[in-house]
Amino acid sequence: MKKDLLTISDISREDIEGIFNHAKFLKEKFRAGETYHPLKGKTLGMIFKKASTRTRISFESGMYQLGGHALFLGAKDLQMDRGESIADTAKIFSLYLDGIVVRTFSQDEVEELASNASIAVINGLTDQHHPCQILSDMFTIMEKFGRLKGVKVAYMGDGNNIANSWLDGASKMGMNLSISTPPDYKPNSEIIKRAVAVAQKNGGKIELTDDPFEGVMDADIIYTDVWTSMGQEDEYDKRLKDFKGFQVNTKLVGAAKKDVKIMHCLPAHRGEEISADVIDGEKSIVFEEAGNRLHVQKAILEILMGGK
Ligand code: CP
Ligand code: NVA
Repeated sequence: MKKDLLTISDISREDIEGIFNHAKFLKEKFRAGETYHPLKGKTLGMIFKKASTRTRISFESGMYQLGGHALFLGAKDLQMDRGESIADTAKIFSLYLDGIVVRTFSQDEVEELASNASIAVINGLTDQHHPCQILSDMFTIMEKFGRLKGVKVAYMGDGNNIANSWLDGASKMGMNLSISTPPDYKPNSEIIKRAVAVAQKNGGKIELTDDPFEGVMDADIIYTDVWTSMGQEDEYDKRLKDFKGFQVNTKLVGAAKKDVKIMHCLPAHRGEEISADVIDGEKSIVFEEAGNRLHVQKAILEILMGGK
């Protein structure tokens, strides 16, 4: 695998299969309560400019479980907040640490950090991508369906980070992906173009629609995300109106396959993008999905930092 994990489009299908195989091994060890310390003596720096529950905790505890140490650095903790350049920060981090997880606004910032660091940089979410989330989600789907190829995911909501990473991931693994968004909230057109071409090569299909009922037709999985992402709080009222009709509720779920599974990257806002009865209902696998963040990210850490 390359030095960094910045987007799913940067890594190969074989890399993804390697991550899944190792995540399965790590999950079994975790469940058996076995100690496994391949990252003994290694330190991970975690730069977070946005809030996080799952990503922060799973990386931090994952690093501990692998025998290493994680250093959490909030938005205000670094000299970067007072104008030190990203390039200098990357060079300094490379003198002390073995890897970096970064959650920030712009993808360019993550790219700049990675190109100036000699250690692994892992994207923990930007406005444009959330690779660790979608890798974990695909791992969860593998567990449930025993395959990815031909499985149809119907994504509902905003065409931003989660949708973009789904486009990259699904196309690479030959999945069928439909993305339903209001007309003004489509994913990045370059990413769509790239995904359509990659999907074609891998026997998958990418569809875009502004009709949620068309989107969920024959879906094996319905997947949603918040309507107002971090940093967009000023648009909350407008988005409530614009996304009306895209809620994942009993009626919409009824239009998909009978045994459809419900996924959500979380955090969820019940009554907005998803109704409480659906997210808390029997078709929902959202907590298993969240649990797998730990195992998949531990695999990523060991592969990138432990030379696995
Ligand atoms: N899904 C996800 O990344 O959650 P957090 O924002 O809590 O990390
Ligand atoms: N789209 C959401 C994802 C949160 C995990 C956000 O960026 O806030």
